[in-house]
Order: sequence, then structure tokens, then C-alpha cells
Amino acid sequence: MSENYTPKVPGLTVKSGNPLTTVTDVIIIATSSDAKFSIVSPAMTTAGKVKVRRALLAVGATGKADEVVRIAGHGLSSAAVIVAVGLGSVKDALTPEQLRRAAGNATRSLMGFKKVAIDFPTMSSDQLCAVLEGAALGAYAFSDHKHSTLQKSRSAVSSITVLSSNPKDPATKTALHRARALTHAVVFARDAINTSPLHLPPEVLASRATQLLADTSVTISVLDEKELLAGGYGGIMAVGQGSARPPRLIRMSYQPDGATQHIAIVGKGITFDTGGISLKPPASMHEMKADMSGAAAVIATMRAVADLNLPIAVTAYAACAENMPGGMAQRPGDVISAYGGRTIEVLNTDAEGRLVLADALVRAAQDNPDAVIDIATLTGAAVVALGHRTAGVLGDDSMRNIVVAAAETAGEEFWPMPMPVELRAPLDSLVADIANIGIREGGMLSAAWFLKDFVAKDLPWAHLDIAGPAYNSQAPHGYTHKGGVGFGVRTLVNVLEDFISGVAKI
Ligand code: BES
Ligand code: ZN
Ligand code: ZN
Repeated sequence: MSENYTPKVPGLTVKSGNPLTTVTDVIIIATSSDAKFSIVSPAMTTAGKVKVRRALLAVGATGKADEVVRIAGHGLSSAAVIVAVGLGSVKDALTPEQLRRAAGNATRSLMGFKKVAIDFPTMSSDQLCAVLEGAALGAYAFSDHKHSTLQKSRSAVSSITVLSSNPKDPATKTALHRARALTHAVVFARDAINTSPLHLPPEVLASRATQLLADTSVTISVLDEKELLAGGYGGIMAVGQGSARPPRLIRMSYQPDGATQHIAIVGKGITFDTGGISLKPPASMHEMKADMSGAAAVIATMRAVADLNLPIAVTAYAACAENMPGGMAQRPGDVISAYGGRTIEVLNTDAEGRLVLADALVRAAQDNPDAVIDIATLTGAAVVALGHRTAGVLGDDSMRNIVVAAAETAGEEFWPMPMPVELRAPLDSLVADIANIGIREGGMLSAAWFLKDFVAKDLPWAHLDIAGPAYNSQAPHGYTHKGGVGFGVRTLVNVLEDFISGVAKI
């Protein structure tokens, strides 16, 4: 099975110019609720601001955060359309996330327009990068499965220019390069999540990873079902055996010359999770096409790491299988052997993510990394506990703190969760080394206890449960659309950069 796949990202540029005379389809400007209502433009003339402010006030603009107001540009600007996005109060320095959200709100509202220019108050290169990132991610659309050319042509914004007073600055170039790398990676992850699970069995996900990483310094190898069986990858094989479409373990390795640190990242890649014989209820089963979000995040992260030339070694594993209840499916009560030989009693076939992760975590430790981070849509309990926008982070205290700090910069919500010791005993099995479920209460926490058994002794470890935020079934917001979010990619890149800079230490 093969397909040609490349992520589609809007063109990003930075140049100087007056927002009201810039040639573009749409000019996006920023407003604030300060002084009743004001235009916050670094480059607009005072006369221009007065006119635009009056026109926006006439249609009820207030400048509050998340507000998007669209007016005709005729008589005011070279652009046919002016979009004013509210930043709320700008008395305090704007955080990168405020800028990402505002830029995303604007481009997200502009389906059908091609070329936009953005005039935002971007002082630092971090802020510039945030505007570019938010605008590019807000301009995302997924139309791979639309047949009608009419629907396809109502496409997302394809060209984004951010106006800046110092476009030639080296820091500007760096910000632009970084924004391109991050959005390209996130779009890859979003596309993979949004793709129909019919079209994305493990083999195709592996082929997409291979295509994404071709022409980079990342080497990729894919174990097929024969190699997995021969290698003793009993977790991945057991989950995949109920499907006619066999599992894959994708290994990606990035080893820049002179790197002194080495981090392993491991992603859950269940291309569809029916629950297996412990079948899920039908209500929102279709959302289980997003159960490969962890795998998508680690694959995407490898591309960003290579694009950014990060001076740190990274090895990634994406453990991919389709969890189906076919005639060969595993049964509740089956005892399987994970990679390395530890046995697992499978009491619930819907707790499959931890089975594929067990194999990958044991394998990852063989590469002798300094730390390992796994990322997975692992438990419904994480969604119950933290809602749709916040991920849980578990594991060693220091690693948890590193992830939380890195996530804050990325504008992704991660909350540290405990691993209460009494939740380990219920995972004891009568017949095997461990059972794959414990007690119901605190399900996110006992899942982490299960994984811990497969993390090498003394290897610093963080477990990221992204079951809530990986897939947005709620209303779109900021630069987040409905559907695949691409959650975790930007946090993982930040974690790696924090190790490089020494901000993160083990
Ligand atoms: N993929 C699910 C977790 C999930 C649920 C992700 C909702 C996103 C949204 C996972 O494989 C699963 O089904 N976990 C079970 C574990 C239970 C049987 C111990 C769950 O959470 O119910
Ligand atoms: Zn499941
Ligand atoms: Zn699952």
C-alpha cells in the first residue's frame, strides 16, 4: 500500500511596510480594549489609525481578547478586507501564546482568502515566531477526503506575510525558520490524525514517516510483522493480531556530530482503537482514529529536530497497530510476553496502548538514552480528570517539571499528576508478571504504574497522557481547529531545546 504524501503549509514571509498600503487580499491588524478601544499598530500612521478605529467602532468592535471583526478595506487600505483581532489589554507584555491565539483566530476565520498580511505588535523574535506559528496553524484545513472541487477550492490561506520593522535581522530569520519547521511538523501530525483510519493502517503511517524524513539526517527503520514476531515484540503483535492489517514498529534516529546528550521519545500509534474484544461503545468510536496521536507527535518532532539542526541525539519509536476484534484477536485472559520477556495478563483488550508502549519502552532503553519520554492518548480517565485541553504528565518529579516548563513556552497545557503507591498492587496478576488493568479509579495514574514496569531502572522518565487535547471535538479556538490538534510536538521540541541550553538537567 502506498501513497504520495507531503504536508501542505502556507508560505510564510516577513517584510517591512505600512499595513494600510501593503498589497494583499486581507490585512490583519491588532486592537486592544485599552483606552475604550484602540488600534495597536507599530507601523500605521496616526491619521490611518483614526480612520480605521472609527470604522471598526461603527460595527461594534471592542478589542477584547479572541474578538475577530471583519470590515471592507475600501477607502482605508490597499487590501479589500481588514480583519481586526482583539488582544484585550496590552498594558502588560504580550505572551507568545496570546499572539499565537490572536493570529490563529484571524487566519482561521479567513477560509477562502489566499494572501494575508499581519500587522501585530511584535517586539521580540519569540513574539514574531509566535505570530507566524499561530497564523500558519490557524490557516490549516484538511480536505484530502473531499471529492468536490468546490469544497477543495474553498481552501485555507496559502500565503502569510508578517510586517516587521527589522525583516533583515538575523533573529527574524531564525524566528521564520523555526516557525516554518514547527508548523510543518504540526501539520504532518494533524493530517495523519484527521486521515480516515481506512486510509491509514500501520503500514501507511510508516510510509508517511519515511516520506517525511527522507532528505533529512534522520535514519528510519521499520519492523514489519515478521520481524516483530521474530524479535519478541509480544505487546505490539498481540494488539495487532485482531486486524488484517499488520502492526509496525518505526524507529527514527537523529545523531548529530558532537552531541553530548541523548533523549528517547516513544509514541502510541494505534491507527484505530475499537477496543478489540473488550469492544468500545459506538457513540464516539470514530474519534479513535486519533489514537495514533502520540506516534504522529514523535514522527513530527523528528522532522522538526532535523530541520532545526538541534545539537542533541534523539531516538524515536512509534509503536503502531490497529486494535480490531477479528477472529485472531487476543482474548481477555491471554498472557503475552512483552519485548524483553516480561509477561502481561491482558484483562482488558481496550487497554492496548500500554501493551505497545511496553515493547517500545524496553526497546528504547537498549539505545542507552539519558532520559525517555512517552506520549500517548492512553486513558479516558485523563479526559475525565483534565478535560479536553489539558494533558497529564506523570513519571519522575524532575522530568515532570521539565515537561511542564517546556509546555508553558509552547502554549500547550500540561498538568503534573501523582503516582500514588497504592495503585500499583491492583496491577498484580495471579498468573503473569503484571496485569494490564488495575482499579478503575485513578485510571490515568495506574496506567503510568503499568508503564513504569517497562522503563529501565534509574532511567529518567516522563509519561504524557494526551487523551484529552489530542483531538478537538469541541468548538475551534485560537489556532486549534476541530479534529486533529498535533498536540505535544511543540512541547517535545522545547524539552529537547531545554536540555541543549541546560535549562533542563537530569
Ligand atoms: N485510546 C483509549 C483512551 C482514550 C479514550 C483516548 C478517550 C482518547 C479519548 C485507550 O486505549 C483506552 O481505551 N483505555 C481504556 C483503559 C481501561 C480499559 C483501563 C480507558 O481509558 O477506558
Ligand atoms: Zn483502548
Ligand atoms: Zn487506545
